[in-house]
Amino acid sequence: MSTTEQTGAARIDHVVVPGTFDPVTLGHMDVISRTRKLFPRVTVAVAASVNKRGRGTAFTLEERVEMLRQALAEEGLSDVEVLPFTGLLVDFCHGIGALGVVKGLRAMTDFEYELQQADLNCHMAPDIESVFVMSNPKYGYVSSSIVREISSMGSDVSSLVPPCVNQRLKEHYSA
Ligand code: PNS
Repeated sequence: MSTTEQTGAARIDHVVVPGTFDPVTLGHMDVISRTRKLFPRVTVAVAASVNKRGRGTAFTLEERVEMLRQALAEEGLSDVEVLPFTGLLVDFCHGIGALGVVKGLRAMTDFEYELQQADLNCHMAPDIESVFVMSNPKYGYVSSSIVREISSMGSDVSSLVPPCVNQRLKEHYSA
């Protein structure tokens, strides 16, 4: 009898990479592409409402979803699905039949926040596994908020975001 049969646990072949993606960065793209290497089916879940500090987003939900779809297509990752979600992440995962949540970790500061979320998700939905991938050191300092800040001051962020996002940022902050 296999370990899976002994524990009764289902094999995880569909995972969710959740986030606010305001906007998607090359750090996010790295995590998504590495997640796709690990799991046959990956859904990127874009949170509708607010970021972790409780503020609204710079880009609308539709814009964030569209930027991700375009960036993934440009990277040859069109088989990664992108869906918006509202409400609890674990409910969204149950709704689409995904049994894992994958997030990237850059530093210890990420770890504390992510551990709290993973613990909470585990409390609400013990059937969903949290999986962490270490971010590529190349992108260790890259975040959506850093990208927005630099771009809003008129500086170039082409080395931090996919080309389609770079274009959107220029339009957004020159408007
Ligand atoms: O890009 P972020 O800000 O790290 O993404 C955070 C996100 C959207 C994954 C997290 O806030 C989330 O899961 N929100 C949905 C609401 C929820 O399920 N809350 C309970 C777990 S913290």
